[in-house]
Amino acid sequence: MPVNSVAERLRQANHVTVFTGAGVSAESGIPTFRDALTGLWERFDPAQLATAEAYRTDPSLCWGWYEWRRAKVLQAIPNAAHLAIAELANHVPKLTIVTQNVDDLHERAGCEGVIHIHGSLHTPRCIDCAVAYGPILPDQDLSHDGCRIEPLRCGACNGLIRPGVVWFGEMLPEHAWSAGLAAAEGCDLFLSIGTSGMVFPAAELPLRALSKGSTVVHINPSAFEVSADEYFLQGPATHIMQSLLTDAFG
Ligand code: OAD
Repeated sequence: MPVNSVAERLRQANHVTVFTGAGVSAESGIPTFRDALTGLWERFDPAQLATAEAYRTDPSLCWGWYEWRRAKVLQAIPNAAHLAIAELANHVPKLTIVTQNVDDLHERAGCEGVIHIHGSLHTPRCIDCAVAYGPILPDQDLSHDGCRIEPLRCGACNGLIRPGVVWFGEMLPEHAWSAGLAAAEGCDLFLSIGTSGMVFPAAELPLRALSKGSTVVHINPSAFEVSADEYFLQGPATHIMQSLLTDAFG
């Protein structure tokens, strides 16, 4: 489907759900997970960094890695795709943004009510009692990715403070997941932008949208197969989203 046909659907839509993955933040300098050479999971072992067991085994390695990632996010700024997605709110009757990203670039682009189904780097909590860590995290000078940093401790129970992201083997935050499902099943246009669609249950969302009769459009620079009922726009998120907005709303 060409961009102008998707633009027509966008103009007519009542409820648009935008579902984003790491590719949306790639052009802000935040690495994706699975892109060849640059993806985080190409360079680091998730089993050593992204499970509760790994965290308890080597807390300073894990906390240092997440603090390095948080520092990268703090230095980044929203790109034209984040801004175009935020701008959509001014044109469609209802917009819901569901993200797998643990950064805050959608919010800093001006989006409201973003649903973070994989949590956030900015909401640390205690690994034992789950109490949110209240104080602002200290700025760290993290110029490289192998820094070890001793984790902070919980003021309530002295447990280790962990990042507020979802690790492998963990359930998604219940409220975010049910809101994400409702947004997928209740929209008439579902834009899936910059995700490999390899991680479940997140990758179920486009399928749920499709099963309810929504138009599903994938936006990605790397071509992949989609079913006969879905659409694919090939290109970087910044370029495609800007063209889509211009075509739809001038
Ligand atoms: P992946 O790294 O798996 O996929 C990133 C996707 O972005 C790929 O399909 C790329 O082709 C695409 N991409 C790269 N540059 C892009 C650009 N400029 N514009 C648009 N797309 C671009 O990232 P996710 O699908 O987000 O889990 O990964 C899903 C989950 O796996 C993440 O949320 C994370 C990870 O383990 C948790 O943190 C729990």
